[in-house]
Amino acid sequence: MLDPASSRILKKVYAATSNEELEVAYDEWADDYDAHVTGFGWKSPAVAVGLFGRYVPSREARVLDAGAGTGQIGELLMIMGYGNLMGIDLSAGMLAKAQKTGAYGELRQMLLGEHLDFPDNHFAACLSVGVFTAGHAPAAGFDELVRVVAPGGFIVFSLRDVVYLDDGFKAKFDALAAEGHWERVEKTPAYAALPYEDPEIKHNVFVFRVLT
Ligand SMILES: C[S@@+](CC[C@H](N)C(=O)[O-])C[C@H]1O[C@@H](n2cnc3c(N)ncnc32)[C@H](O)[C@@H]1O
Repeated sequence: MLDPASSRILKKVYAATSNEELEVAYDEWADDYDAHVTGFGWKSPAVAVGLFGRYVPSREARVLDAGAGTGQIGELLMIMGYGNLMGIDLSAGMLAKAQKTGAYGELRQMLLGEHLDFPDNHFAACLSVGVFTAGHAPAAGFDELVRVVAPGGFIVFSLRDVVYLDDGFKAKFDALAAEGHWERVEKTPAYAALPYEDPEIKHNVFVFRVLT
């Protein structure tokens, strides 16, 4: 049976109306996040990391985990042998947990949707799981991701199906493609991302190849 505290904090996260409120909510959740989302049956890290391995074979690839949270993605990548990971997140509390995984060469507090403090073409690939969603990172954040990932590199991310259509993501993805910045190479079927919390929440994982 689900812990009512886990559903309460999840609702708090989705009720946040500013980045400041969201940061406070994630800071509060950091210690229990892994146990709670495991209880929800959180599937997107496994799907995204599995797809990532299909497209990014080099273990030395410089990888950005955008919205690293407690470092679940970093831990999985580390187990798979990837050793050049940078993580960013808006929540210092979540980053402190990620630090403990030992998976990341560096972790920095940074906001997707604003300028990212990295040079052009700095990364070979980017993963972002559970971050571009309602009330979290906006579609505009992809402008910076296509800038900091080098041409030929891959951006792999999860996105809730209704958010893709309703919150400007489809329009942003189409615009970036029309401008020649990226091309879509894969989109999974929609699946229940948190089946034991709410089986109606469906995610897709997308893979885009950066072109310019
Ligand atoms: C659902 S958690 C996912 C964490 C991790 N990627 C995972 O799969 O477990 C969402 C994370 O995105 C971060 N986040 C939300 N909005 C953000 C933004 N605009 N910029 C950077 N991080 C953000 C939150 O602080 C939180 O750590």
